Amino acid sequence: MSALARSVLVTGSNRGIGLELVRQLAASPQPPQHIFATCRDPEGPRGKALRELAAQHPSIKLVQLADTVNLPSIRGAVQAVESHLKDQGLNLLINNAGVSSHATLRSLDLQEMLSIFATNAVGPIQVAKEFLPLLNKAAKGMGKEGLSCSRAAVINVSTKLGSIGLCLGVLEAPMYPYRASKAAQNMVTRCMAAELRDQGILCTAIHPGWVKTDMGTEKAPLTVEQSVRGILSVLAGLSQETSGAFLDWEGNSLPW
Ligand SMILES: NC(=O)c1ccc[n+]([C@@H]2O[C@H](COP(=O)([O-])OP(=O)(O)OC[C@H]3O[C@@H](n4cnc5c(N)ncnc54)[C@H](OP(=O)(O)O)[C@@H]3O)[C@@H](O)[C@H]2O)c1
Repeated sequence: MSALARSVLVTGSNRGIGLELVRQLAASPQPPQHIFATCRDPEGPRGKALRELAAQHPSIKLVQLADTVNLPSIRGAVQAVESHLKDQGLNLLINNAGVSSHATLRSLDLQEMLSIFATNAVGPIQVAKEFLPLLNKAAKGMGKEGLSCSRAAVINVSTKLGSIGLCLGVLEAPMYPYRASKAAQNMVTRCMAAELRDQGILCTAIHPGWVKTDMGTEKAPLTVEQSVRGILSVLAGLSQETSGAFLDWEGNSLPW
């Protein structure tokens, strides 16, 4: 099996789904040449598991991205990635960093709503915008036709809970800021897929399932290993037909 992509960047990779994405990519039989693992503080206590993983795999490069809406920090991360890639582009950007909220209509406060929107909706588009020149370079430089993760792609990690078509369990778990911000992120995915198609860049939203992480809690039915194995196999099969799609970790299509 060939590598999913020559270079991959994963945001929010110090724990949860992001950490497991980096772990499985690095351990794959044909690992990417460069795995850029971003987190807020790679040198601090929250980066420990990622540092230990990186020590075992030279393909993993730790990159600081203090916040996905902190523009100077994103630009610093672009520069760091560019210095490793030299004249190559970045093939695959996985916008994984995200934050949940259980706020109800009664408990909701304005600051919480804005901060969840910033991380879940503004962060992914801002990060994609800043990495676009490197994605464009990859799309042009690969000598490939069509759309794929091995050429150039943006994957936005979304959630079924953001599906307006499904409106799953709203009465039991309203989660207004989380659902609304992920619905907004879905629209970003859809628009970017349309706009970037002609530039050779694929864009797809992926729901990882309900996963045992700090966010998903121990009650979740899926282990992080199962979810990420599924996600990586879905990513390997993406093409022009699934750019602009909303898929789950098993490749099933979801309503927006
Ligand atoms: N777990 C589930 O059941 C589930 C279901 C559907 C969708 N998802 C989605 O999957 C993605 C990963 O979730 P997870 O379960 O792995 O969550 P998690 O265990 O809570 O990890 C979240 C990651 O995002 C980072 N992050 C949060 N806010 C950030 C910000 N403003 N800037 C930079 N990094 C930030 C965190 O960094 P720190 O450690 O520094 O906080 C952490 O690395 C999210 O987008 C989530 O919405 C998860």
